[in-house]
Amino acid sequence: MSKIMDAKVLGVYPVAPATYYMELEAPDIARLAVPGQFVHVRCSDSQDPLLRRPISIHMVSRPKGVLALLFRVVGKGTELLAQSKVGDIINLMGPLGKGFTMPLPGSRVAVAAGGIGAAPLVFLVQELAHMKCQVTVYLGAKDKKSLLCDGQFEQMEAEVVIATDDGSLGYKGTVPGVMSKHADWKRTAITYMCGPKPMMRDIASMLAEADVPGEASLEEHMGCGIGACLSCATKISHHGEVTNKRVCADGPVFPSWQVVWE
Ligand SMILES: Cc1cc2nc3c(=O)[nH]c(=O)nc-3n(C[C@H](O)[C@H](O)[C@H](O)COP(=O)(O)OP(=O)(O)OC[C@H]3O[C@@H](n4cnc5c(N)ncnc54)[C@H](O)[C@@H]3O)c2cc1C
Ligand code: FES
Repeated sequence: MSKIMDAKVLGVYPVAPATYYMELEAPDIARLAVPGQFVHVRCSDSQDPLLRRPISIHMVSRPKGVLALLFRVVGKGTELLAQSKVGDIINLMGPLGKGFTMPLPGSRVAVAAGGIGAAPLVFLVQELAHMKCQVTVYLGAKDKKSLLCDGQFEQMEAEVVIATDDGSLGYKGTVPGVMSKHADWKRTAITYMCGPKPMMRDIASMLAEADVPGEASLEEHMGCGIGACLSCATKISHHGEVTNKRVCADGPVFPSWQVVWE
C-alpha cells in the first residue's frame, strides 16, 4: 500500500559530480518499502515542474523512520531537490512499483550497477546481506570521481568489482566487459541490474546465453506513477507475445529475458 505524505529533509549532501544523497523523515514509507521500489517526488510547491519525479528508494532505516535517496541533477526537478535545505518539507507518494524478487537466504547472487543505477541496488544489497547472501557487485562509472556507492557495498561485505570507462579505477571498460572476464556470475542464483539501457541489454543477453535468471530495473518517463496514464509503457515479451507494460505499476523491475531491449 502506498501513501502520499509530507517528509522532512534531514540532510542533503553532494557525493559526486552533480549527484546528491538526501535523507528524509518518512517512517511510513521506510516501514513499507522493499528493494526496487521508488517514490514519486513533488520537487516544487509551484506548477513548475508540474509532474512528480520518480526516484528509487536508495536505503531505509526502519527503526529511525528514515528514507534515503541518491539522485543525479539532470533538469529542473532534480535541481530543485538538490537545493533543498534541512527542515524543508517534500511531498512524496510511495512506496510505488514492484521490487526485486528476493532469492533464498544464503544464495549466491550478482548485482550489476552502472552510474546512478547503483541507487536502488544499495537497498537491495542491504536486504541480501540480512539474508546472509553471498553478493558480488559489478560496479561501473565513467571515471573514479563519478563512481557511486562502492564504500556502501563493501561495508555490507559484498565483493565489489569496479569498471571505469577511462580506467581511472579498476578494470578499463564497461560492466558487461568486466563481467565477460569473470565467470562467477554464471554460478549465481540470479543477477540483478540497474543502469544505462545498453549496459542492461548486453548483460541480459549474456545471462540468457549462460541460462542465468536476471532482473532489470527499468526507467521510463512517468506521469501519474500509479498505473493510470500509460505514459511509462514499455514492451515486455511473455511466451512469445509482446505487450505493453507500465513501468510504474507492473515494474520498474522485470525479468531481464522478458524485456524487449530496443
Ligand atoms: C522508476 C525510476 C526510478 C528512478 N530512480 C532514480 C534515482 O534513484 N536517481 C536518479 O538520479 N534518477 C532516477 N530516475 C530518473 C529520474 O526520475 C529523472 O532523472 C528525473 O525525473 C528528471 O527530472 P528533472 O526535472 O530533473 O529533469 P527533466 O527536465 O524532466 O529531464 C532532464 C533530462 O533527463 C531526461 N529524463 C528525465 N526523466 C527520465 C527518465 N525517467 N528516463 C530517462 N531519461 C529521463 C529527459 O529526457 C531530459 O533529457 C528514476 C526514474 C525512474 C522511472
Ligand atoms: S506513469 Fe502513469 S501509468 Fe505509469
